Amino acid sequence: MKVTNLDERIHVLEDASNVTTVIKDIALSGLQEEAFYVLDIGDIVHKHQIWKEKMPRVSPYYAVKCNDNLSVIEVLAALGTGFDCASKSEINKVLSLGVDPSRIIFANPAKPASHIRHAAAVGVDVMTVDNENELHKIKKLHPNAKIVIRIRCDAEVAQCQLGMKFGCDPIYEAPNLLRLSRVLGLDVIGISFHVGSGCQDPPVFHRAIRHCKTLFDLAMDIGFKPHLLDIGGGYPGNKGTSIDKIADVVNKALDEYFNTDSVHVIAEPGRFYVASAFTLATSIHSKRSVRGDENSPNTVTHNMYYINDGVYGSFNCLLYDHQHVTPIPLKKGYGKIVPSSIWGPTCDGLDQVVENVLLHEMDLGDWIIFENMGAYTLPVASPFNGFPVPKVHTIVDENICYFYERSDVHAYGKQNFTCFLTLNTQILLT
Ligand SMILES: Cc1ncc(COP(=O)(O)O)c(C=O)c1O
Repeated sequence: MKVTNLDERIHVLEDASNVTTVIKDIALSGLQEEAFYVLDIGDIVHKHQIWKEKMPRVSPYYAVKCNDNLSVIEVLAALGTGFDCASKSEINKVLSLGVDPSRIIFANPAKPASHIRHAAAVGVDVMTVDNENELHKIKKLHPNAKIVIRIRCDAEVAQCQLGMKFGCDPIYEAPNLLRLSRVLGLDVIGISFHVGSGCQDPPVFHRAIRHCKTLFDLAMDIGFKPHLLDIGGGYPGNKGTSIDKIADVVNKALDEYFNTDSVHVIAEPGRFYVASAFTLATSIHSKRSVRGDENSPNTVTHNMYYINDGVYGSFNCLLYDHQHVTPIPLKKGYGKIVPSSIWGPTCDGLDQVVENVLLHEMDLGDWIIFENMGAYTLPVASPFNGFPVPKVHTIVDENICYFYERSDVHAYGKQNFTCFLTLNTQILLT
């Protein structure tokens, strides 16, 4: 495939094209100066296949906050996932694609009043709660809501801990919330937790699911009919990672504590679905070569490369999401290997992307690629100092996509696109 129209939103790949050949086509076209992403839809479809295979009992509700790119949401909608939304605007984004409100969980335990009112107005009823004030608020603003009590059960090791902000204590607080819900006449339909994003402690899922079982039993004693278990997010998504260990723990815990069809089990995966699907291409616009000491004044001891995306843009993930990124030069390097650092484009000294890495000598205009850039990057990026947030070029392998077409690619709000993906089964969304 030759990419000729850089504004085209979706490229169908033919022949031996792949993410790298597309990046080369765009980067070396002579027309591209700014950083850009390539989003591989096939990667998302593949992740969905993995999820279904590894955790067949658990329905994924994609956490929109992780990456709210419309193609991502469209494809996941076509594949039949649900959605975890954190706000009114995320709810609207998902609904605008024609997704039924019953496929949305409003999974933010601390919701502004107007957002609860909006959820009620558009029919998003399922929402998480971890405190008494939230129950009173919901009683007033959305009395028919279906309440999911979010408990705290933290992974010992996680990339981003969430328990210090959300989740009530499962032993001391959750029972009181169940009782208060009963007094208020609210309907508690289930229990949820989030062990922490980027969980590296698979057994925590067993502990959390055990707590949920105890609370399901208590909820039934109190008079509720709980039927939703939400096991949250936390699953890794980078190339080379696997959800096998977590899936093993989850499947065993479900067999042990929820061996019944009457409980619908959902999860809220974010980074699992999108991390590896996005590859970022950046180019070097400036370079400083630091020369050696007085004994060898002409020897370059360190190269500083300035690229067109930084910590105020996509690489905010270094600060907020504690990610580590690996620079991959697009051109095969020759010649001397020099200790190097990579910096973002803004005038801030904090704007450093890679502190110290050995790289072949590179020149202005050379491109550096970063894989695994799909999670918690784009939605947080800002155009600080006037540097634009990179544009996304979406690609679909022709084996996956027989037909992916819209009459107007920008008319997301309209029901006028047809997305025809082939997996084991064929999924048709019109
Ligand atoms: C409520 C909730 N659900 C799901 C997620 C997604 O988590 P992850 O990307 O680790 O799967 C988050 C992330 O912060 C979250 O806050």
